[in-house]
Amino acid sequence: MWFKLGTMLLILVFCGLTMATNLDKYEGYYKYTVFHNGEDVFNHMVQLQTVDENLDFWLLTRNMSIISVSPTVQPFLETRLKKLRVPYVAKPLMEEMSAFTQNVTDTECDNSECTLSRSKRQARGVFGHFPRYSEILNYMSALASRNPQYCRYESLGRTHEGRHVAGLSISLNSQLRPRRVAYVQGGTHGREWITPLAVLYLANELLNNLRAFQSVLQDTEIYVVPLVNPDGYEYTHTRDRFWRKNRHHYGGRSCVGVDINRNFANNWNYRGASQNLCSEVYSGTSPGSEAETSAVARYLSANRHRVKLSLDVHSFGKYIFYPYGYSRNALAPTRNLLHSVAQRAATQIAKYRGTRYSVGTSAGILYEASGGLDDYAYGNLGIPMSFTLELPGENFQVAQSDIIHICKETFAGLIEFIRHVSLY
Ligand code: ARG
Ligand code: ZN
Repeated sequence: MWFKLGTMLLILVFCGLTMATNLDKYEGYYKYTVFHNGEDVFNHMVQLQTVDENLDFWLLTRNMSIISVSPTVQPFLETRLKKLRVPYVAKPLMEEMSAFTQNVTDTECDNSECTLSRSKRQARGVFGHFPRYSEILNYMSALASRNPQYCRYESLGRTHEGRHVAGLSISLNSQLRPRRVAYVQGGTHGREWITPLAVLYLANELLNNLRAFQSVLQDTEIYVVPLVNPDGYEYTHTRDRFWRKNRHHYGGRSCVGVDINRNFANNWNYRGASQNLCSEVYSGTSPGSEAETSAVARYLSANRHRVKLSLDVHSFGKYIFYPYGYSRNALAPTRNLLHSVAQRAATQIAKYRGTRYSVGTSAGILYEASGGLDDYAYGNLGIPMSFTLELPGENFQVAQSDIIHICKETFAGLIEFIRHVSLY
């Protein structure tokens, strides 16, 4: 009996020591920053992003790309880059990550400075760390039960793994007459951890300052979905920090997941998307094939005549994009208006601490990519204001002490967008 218990204990301790973390697989990886010194280099990179499933593009713009590279493909990439004569820097990925995650555990806190920052962090509550799915949903449900007249908590649908795509509706006296809707979502890509918090912060601020936002909320119902892709998000916490897609399993196939932002029914799979299941930008078996996509699309199309603004919050890069994203040649008829509204939001964001966003179409600034929510909301549903935001960051990790500042500056931009809703 004692022997058995002892062995059990040993096994438990051993398992504890060797427990898998979400960064394990990135041992030996490199982060490449490549400076595109010409149009052909950019085109080459775009090609690599869509066809090479072994290169993970964290960022790809006309001017530069940031790529996560495994030890096995590193020699291949090195040869490519040398041949193209492109300047680049490579840095061990784990080094990069440890610079951002130092304050995650913060065990050595015995001086007064640290005590102070710890209590500050506690005061920040959910906005002082990266909460899990259940904490996010509990927070939403608590906001709703504290404000029963102004706030409704509901599920838009369930994911492949059975989690909820949860939404919060916020408005004043919406029972009296239906309101115009401002729709704001985050967490489409699992690894973009700051985005659910930035969206949740919007709900939090509105509900904690109902008086200050009375006039906005009298005109407009604000509908937030902080975490569109809870399965992917949880997976980034438990297994793979840089997982992007959802967790749709296909029987008998080892690759998993669809890129939800390539799965919407606008020019589906036209460009910047792939039909290779193993690709980071796999567009799915058909437009809207994914549970998360159809949950969002169902809500938006049922309310299409009321929804005047759709904001899809991603990270990173400090951009505000407006349609169209699927082709550089597709020009939105109202692009001047879209541009000026986005520019106003960017100006409001900059006021907080000088963070400068760039405004344009994603096809122009980044790359052409079809099947995004922005194009679908604008092109298919006729929602007049549709944007994608890319929040700040140098990778998908943000220092915990920075979360609150990103939430606050983003809030200023979101409110500016929302103020335009009453004009339609
Ligand atoms: N980084 C985002 C993505 O790749 C940008 C999407 C912009 N919209 C678009 N329709 N391409 O999903
Ligand atoms: Zn994204």
